[in-house]
Amino acid sequence: MTQVPFFSFAAMHNALGEAPFDVFRRFWDEQWYILGASVAEFETAYAHWNGTQYCVGVANGLDALHLALRALHIGPGDEVIVPSNTYIATWLAVTQTGAVPVPVEPDLRSYNLDPARIEAAINPATKAIIPVHLYGQSCDMTAIMAIAAKHGLFVVEDNAQAHGAIHAGKRTGSFGHLNATSFYPTKNLGALGDAGATTTDDAQLAEQIRLLRNYGSSRKYYNDLPGYNSRLDELQAALLSMKLPFLQQWTEQRRNLAALYTAQLADIKDVVLPECTEPERHVWHLFVIRTAQRDALAEYLGAQGIGWMIHYPLPPHLQEAYRSLGYQRGDFPLAEQMADTCLSLPLFPGMSEQQVEQVVGAVRRFFT
Ligand SMILES: Cc1ncc(COP(=O)(O)O)c(C=O)c1O
Repeated sequence: MTQVPFFSFAAMHNALGEAPFDVFRRFWDEQWYILGASVAEFETAYAHWNGTQYCVGVANGLDALHLALRALHIGPGDEVIVPSNTYIATWLAVTQTGAVPVPVEPDLRSYNLDPARIEAAINPATKAIIPVHLYGQSCDMTAIMAIAAKHGLFVVEDNAQAHGAIHAGKRTGSFGHLNATSFYPTKNLGALGDAGATTTDDAQLAEQIRLLRNYGSSRKYYNDLPGYNSRLDELQAALLSMKLPFLQQWTEQRRNLAALYTAQLADIKDVVLPECTEPERHVWHLFVIRTAQRDALAEYLGAQGIGWMIHYPLPPHLQEAYRSLGYQRGDFPLAEQMADTCLSLPLFPGMSEQQVEQVVGAVRRFFT
């Protein structure tokens, strides 16, 4: 039986042809590997593409979030509002500064931070909100920015899953004071290793990130502040610059695949499909369905040779890593419900309509 992988790089690699090998040869010959022209070029290209004044490349998405919070002087005694349903990196960035993550539940239609629940979590210790554009769909940034302005809070978008998603005519990653993204290989724009970036319109904040990522140093061997080593690698930056021009067409492919899934799964009443109010604005990092029979369906798909994943099986508040925060099952029921019922189906640039039909056929057979 033909297998449908959960994800494949093949079509994206094909589109790049021999270019990555030429780049490698150039690097081999030029012998400059850290903070050079390739990082600067990618930063300029990504900032322009994202609609921000500045982009500062860093080592990965977690560091992008962490350094953003550091640049905003968030630390011990502060609270930061985070989604109850997100990848743990969003919370880790907060706890790495010594601040406390304060979870807010999602709107179960979009799976994103529910603006109506945010104000109840704000108190004098609250310093920032981190909206996560989960699975590729923008949060309601109009509402979130208004709440932040009303209470004098910073906003740091976690745009790891939503390169190119649009809200109110602007790309995600361009709303917050300082925003973070990841170029982990399977992200919509992915490197061939770890990579990340921050984006902002604020020159001073961009400069702070430049210092923080490079030992707190702007002049070699002179250190203005105790920084980190979190630099975007030259080779990864060159590969990202090469992939960026293809991102729009890869996003269109994701949208077409999501539309096919949505049309073909619509009549299966035991499956909750992802709600997308503005299909042309969602970038479909993941196609996540929900069903009460999630574990049995996953096992069935696996047996049929169809890849699947769960994003995410255990919310941060129930992770062993956060036992010290003192949360229990039942504290964030919507995040727990998501974790218990969500299933991500295969979706990647280059996936064929026939492969979608294979997945849909297997889901249908399971439910009938
Ligand atoms: C929502 C979210 N935030 C942050 C990250 C962290 O990115 P990275 O793995 O590059 O550190 C990821 C991806 O892993 C993510 O999905």
